[in-house]
Amino acid sequence: MISISIDGPGGAGKSTIAKALAKKLGFIYVDTGALYRAIGLYMINNGVDLKNAAAVTEKLDEVKVELKYVNGEQRVLLCGDDVSEDIRKPEVSMAASDVSAIPAVRDFLLGLQRKMASENNVIMDGRDIGTVVLPNAQIKLFLTASAEERAMRRYKELIEKGKKVEYETVYKELCERDYQDSHREVAPLKPADDATIIDTTGNDLEKSVQVLTDFILPKLEK
Ligand code: DC
Repeated sequence: MISISIDGPGGAGKSTIAKALAKKLGFIYVDTGALYRAIGLYMINNGVDLKNAAAVTEKLDEVKVELKYVNGEQRVLLCGDDVSEDIRKPEVSMAASDVSAIPAVRDFLLGLQRKMASENNVIMDGRDIGTVVLPNAQIKLFLTASAEERAMRRYKELIEKGKKVEYETVYKELCERDYQDSHREVAPLKPADDATIIDTTGNDLEKSVQVLTDFILPKLEK
């Protein structure tokens, strides 16, 4: 099986680019952030203090997270319910970042991610895919862009969805999450030593997909 890891901070365009690439290559796209989001959502819905690692860890016993593919689109099931839309709410982003710093949560999701990669050719996006989840991935990328541009992309996405948000708030939350994700003790956000870093600042989506396709295709043909 072939694995391609795409790590990087929020808003770097990982998911949109990875989705387009997966389609081109006939690979399965695995959005691992969605798994952490599902756990964050469960903890919010059950009134668990997200900063209390012991409380979150205890509650994990009740959680069942599954990935399902419908017409090539990833759906996330939380205890049997499709929560693919609910996990995109802005408040779930920070909750996902909070629970993702808890070692038991990371362990809980590790097996599922590795199983997906052992059974399928995957493009997997996240924060620690190249460093921890799939250290033997054949191709490792680290996608980034300036914080201002990432926040602007997020802001536009939310506005397009009809959400009332301020750019300043989106920017502040993004920086907070970047800091939290890259400073946690377990599996922090960082490029693997053997990852290629690609900066998408100034690129539109089409251009970024092209840059990554040009990078990946020759490697797969070898
Ligand atoms: O990619 P995303 O914004 O949907 O991820 C939500 C949060 O989940 C992110 O802030 C950190 C966490 N995460 C992680 O710790 N490891 C991953 N592989 C993917 C996401």
